Amino acid sequence: MAEVQRYNSVAISLHWLIAFFIVNLLAMGKYMTHLEVDDPLRYTLTQLHKSVGITLLLLALFRVFWRLTHKPPALPESTTGFEKIGSQLTHAALYLLMVVIPVSGWIMVSASPLNMETVLFGVVPWPHISFLTTVSDREVVADRAVLIHTWLANGILLLVLLHTIAALFHQWVRKDRLISRMVVSGFHRNAGDLNNGLVAGVLIAAAGSVFLVSTMNTQSVSGQGILGGVSAADTSEPAAATDRMPATAGFAAVQTGEPLIGEFGEVQATLKLDKQAPEASSLIATVMTGSVKSNDAQLDATMVTADWFASEEFPESTFQSTGFEQTSESAYMVTGDLTLKGNTRSVQFELLLEDGVGWGEFTINRSDFGVGDDGQDDFVDDEVVIRFSVPDNS
Ligand code: HEM
Repeated sequence: MAEVQRYNSVAISLHWLIAFFIVNLLAMGKYMTHLEVDDPLRYTLTQLHKSVGITLLLLALFRVFWRLTHKPPALPESTTGFEKIGSQLTHAALYLLMVVIPVSGWIMVSASPLNMETVLFGVVPWPHISFLTTVSDREVVADRAVLIHTWLANGILLLVLLHTIAALFHQWVRKDRLISRMVVSGFHRNAGDLNNGLVAGVLIAAAGSVFLVSTMNTQSVSGQGILGGVSAADTSEPAAATDRMPATAGFAAVQTGEPLIGEFGEVQATLKLDKQAPEASSLIATVMTGSVKSNDAQLDATMVTADWFASEEFPESTFQSTGFEQTSESAYMVTGDLTLKGNTRSVQFELLLEDGVGWGEFTINRSDFGVGDDGQDDFVDDEVVIRFSVPDNS
C-alpha cells in the first residue's frame, strides 16, 4: 500500500486539541444549563465554559490561518467526487462554526444585563464587546444570542458526529487508512492504525478531562466567587490564592416565580481567623448598595430608590461578626449583625473555608429591613438568600 500523506504536526495538534475542547464545551454547556440558576456549580461551570470557549476561539482563528496558508495532503485516490464535495462542505462548516459559536457566546455575555465578568481561568481578564454593553435592548440581544448559540452548538454536535462516522467509514469500510493522516507519527506506522488512533484519542480525552476537573476545582475557590462580583476588597496582606479573589456579595430571590439574581460590584470584607482561639476570629464587610446589578435591568434602577435600598440615604450595608464557633477543621458557625437601610438584625450562617477563601450563605426576610414596600412590591418574595465569599486575611 502506498505511503499515506499526512498532515503536519501543527495541524494534527490543533485538530485534536480543538476536537477535545469542542466535545468538552458541548458536554459542559448542556450540563450547566440544566442546573438550577442559583446553583453555585452553574456559576463555576459557566466561568470555566467561557474560559475554554475563548481559548477555543483563539485556537480556531489560528487554525483557520494555518489551513489557509498550508495546503492539506491530497485525499486518497479512491475518494469519489460526491465524497470530496461532502467532506469539503463539512470541513468548511466546522471551521465556520468553530469561530461563530464562541463569538455568539461572547456576544451573549457582553449583552447580558448581568454584566458578569469574564476572567479566563480566573487569571486573565477578557473584555466585553463594548458597544453591546450600552445597546438599548441588551436583554433582547442577549436572549437572541443564547438561542443562536444553542442552535449552532447543536449544529456542530451533528457535524462532529458526521465527521467521525465518515472517518470510521474510511477506516473500516474503505480501509484506505485515512485516519493515519491525522495521528501523531509514532502511531501511523503501525499496522493497527485505527486502534492506535482510538487509544490516542482516549488518552487525550482522559488527560483533558483530568485537566478540566482540576481547573474547575481551582476556579470554584479562587475564581470570582459565586455571583461573579468584582470589587475593591481589603487586601492588606493577601495570600497568593486570595490575591486574585476579591470579596463578593450577591443575592438570589424569586420575582413573580422567576429567579432574580444580583451582585454588588463594590464589596469590602476582612476575614481574620484565629486558629488558636477560633472564638476570637472576626468577619467585617461593607457593601455599597448602589453598586447592585441583577438579571433584571429595570429592577436595578428601582432597587436603589427609597422603597428598596434607599442608596442615597443609606449607601452602605454592613456586617460585623459577634460570635465565631469552629464546627470542623474548615467550618465555622458565625453570628453577627447585618445592617441594611439603617436596620440591624442578627444573622447566623456556616462559613466554609477552602484554600484560603471563606464563603457562605444565609436567608433574610427583606421586610425585616424595610426593603421593598410590601403590598406594592410583593412581586419579589420576602425571603432573599445572601451569598458571599471573602479571602482569609489572617
Ligand atoms: C465552540 C465553542 C462553544 C461551544 C461548542 C459551546 C457550547 C455550548 C452549549 C452546548 C451550551 C448549552 C446550550 C443549551 O443547550 O442550552 C452553551 C451555553 C453557554 N455558553 Fe457556550 N459554547 C462555546 C463557546 C462559548 C463562549 C466562547 C462563551 C462566552 C464567552 C460561551 C458562553 C456560554 C454561556 C454563558 C452559556 C449559557 C447560556 C444559558 O445560560 O442559557 N460559550 N454553550
